[in-house]
Amino acid sequence: MRPLSLSRDVQPVLSAAERRRFDERPDATFYDSPRFVTHADDAFLARVTDLYADVLDPGDRVLDAMSSWVSHLPGEPSEYEVVGHGLNAEELAANDRLDEWFVQDFNADRSLPLATGGFDAVCCAVSVQYLQYPGAVFAEFARVLAPGGVLIVSFSNRMFPTKAIRAWREASMEGRADLVCRYVDAAGGFGEPTVVRDRPGRDPFYAVVARRQNRS
Ligand SMILES: C[S@@+](CC[C@H](N)C(=O)[O-])C[C@H]1O[C@@H](n2cnc3c(N)ncnc32)[C@H](O)[C@@H]1O
Repeated sequence: MRPLSLSRDVQPVLSAAERRRFDERPDATFYDSPRFVTHADDAFLARVTDLYADVLDPGDRVLDAMSSWVSHLPGEPSEYEVVGHGLNAEELAANDRLDEWFVQDFNADRSLPLATGGFDAVCCAVSVQYLQYPGAVFAEFARVLAPGGVLIVSFSNRMFPTKAIRAWREASMEGRADLVCRYVDAAGGFGEPTVVRDRPGRDPFYAVVARRQNRS
């Protein structure tokens, strides 16, 4: 797959200090070995699935960005057409929800090798804290979404602390929701984001949901 158009220039949302991590080695090194674990408690993950069931329609073309061996999608694998993206090929190969997948470090390369307007939904679960240039990546999410398509970014308070950016590590949960809303605004092309808050289990549940506006 090759990009059909280049992403527009997006001003960085974060300062150099805000995007710093304790571990500045290339992310591919950190994700070299597969981790067949889950990254939030079962109640949180069930809440992600419920949100997807509310927002997605059968047959939707879904990009599961920053994915792993699990996508948290409801229903049967045939229900959606899913392209997965992540950093570990073994994890992605083991994910039975993905029809195809690719590996790409978003902190090194922020242009998605995907057609413009080819998706009805972009899902990004418990991973946004690792993006150093989130405005540019979210602009690519906007580009690949069809008009009316939806971006769903879920997160909690868990993270790999050495790899999460400083702005995320130092923020409260509400501050993190504000950050993700800033990423959506900076990307352009989205309507006003909605923040979903819940406490289904031990891990607090947050999701930012934004709709791709019609192209003018
Ligand atoms: C905590 S895991 C969550 C994976 C999956 N979404 C889930 O719910 O299990 C974080 C994921 O973020 C992705 N990731 C981390 N840093 C990344 C980077 N620099 N570029 C692209 N993806 C990255 C990797 O795919 C990694 O599996």
